Amino acid sequence: MSINLQDSRFIKACRGEATDCTPIWLMRQAGRYMKEYRAIREKHSMLDVIQTPQLAAEVTLQPIDAFGFDAAIIFSDILPPLIGMGLDLDFVKGVGPKLGKCIETPKDVDRLTTPQAEDCMGPTLEAIRLVRRELEPRGIPLIGFAGAPFTLACYSIQGGGSKMYEKAKRFMYTHPAAWEQLMNKFVDVVADYLVEQVTAGASALQVFDSWAGILSRADYVRFIQPYNRRLFETIGSTKVPLINFSTGTSTHLDQVALCGGDVIGVDWRLPIDQAWNAIGSDRAIQGNLDPTALLGPWDELRQQVDQILDAVDGRPGHIFNLGHGILPPTPIDTVKRLTEYVHERTA
Ligand code: CP3
Repeated sequence: MSINLQDSRFIKACRGEATDCTPIWLMRQAGRYMKEYRAIREKHSMLDVIQTPQLAAEVTLQPIDAFGFDAAIIFSDILPPLIGMGLDLDFVKGVGPKLGKCIETPKDVDRLTTPQAEDCMGPTLEAIRLVRRELEPRGIPLIGFAGAPFTLACYSIQGGGSKMYEKAKRFMYTHPAAWEQLMNKFVDVVADYLVEQVTAGASALQVFDSWAGILSRADYVRFIQPYNRRLFETIGSTKVPLINFSTGTSTHLDQVALCGGDVIGVDWRLPIDQAWNAIGSDRAIQGNLDPTALLGPWDELRQQVDQILDAVDGRPGHIFNLGHGILPPTPIDTVKRLTEYVHERTA
């Protein structure tokens, strides 16, 4: 008999319910730290893997088979929906994502289209169907995801990764009406895409607002919150647990929580009990180990894990994760040991 996904450790923790032990998965858990992933990437480009359902499904399952995580996350990226909207995307080795034809003027915003998910992200929806078929009998839920409007705007205007996203912020301050139009287009595309991921078989959804922390608290409330609120309200119709993840937002976690989400994903900058106080006891929390702690010796890592688990103190509604994505030089033995340790210490 397979476990009903609704009774899985991960989904129960998302709902704030007690579990037999603390569930764990790691952001970017499918990726370059695994030799099985690198072997596939030697033969296929990043976009090929994303756009070939069988390959995306295979890569999604690699870390589940290797480490026994409590949830899978569909292999894709936050940026491919931008291709369907009319931007060019490439993943450049050693550099990261590069967008051609990026947004420079309000006219460019006008030109962006808002395609349906089936038309622009069909292969990812198909990969979700394939993975669901594999994982449901094993009782492992699959997380669907998308980028938050602000983080997508950062890349679309800046043209790639950046420390300060100064071009994006300049556009935001200079063209408030076009900013509103841009953010609303992202909400429409992302909401439809997330709803369709649930239809295809995702059991939870995570919204990545990775760069929200570059804004002040006041600007977060002004330029991000109205759009994230509308996004979470719209995808609430799916009834699956929603995870609202951001980094660098320790100073405005209360405002992050006001946007929505059953689970708030937090980085390592605040101790997890303080973060939990800020978001409120009615929410579940996901985090918050520093990903670089996995590069150090086991004793140091174990102390950091203990600090998190001690601060949580057995309270239901904690999903163990990193505060941001796992880093490529992470040793796989460390990932295995971490997963076992979290399960054993909380059992
Ligand atoms: O978590 C998972 O395992 C699912 C897959 C996933 C990827 N990207 C695969 C990926 C997810 C959820 C993402 C989200 C993503 N992508 C975010 C939000 C989370 C975060 O880390 O902040 C962002 C900002 C991106 C944009 C992006 N994609 C960047 C900045 C880069 C380059 C940096 C890097 O790590 O290489 C990517 C490429 C990328 N996305 C890779 C993977 C596995 C590496 C591609 C490769 O060379 O094989």
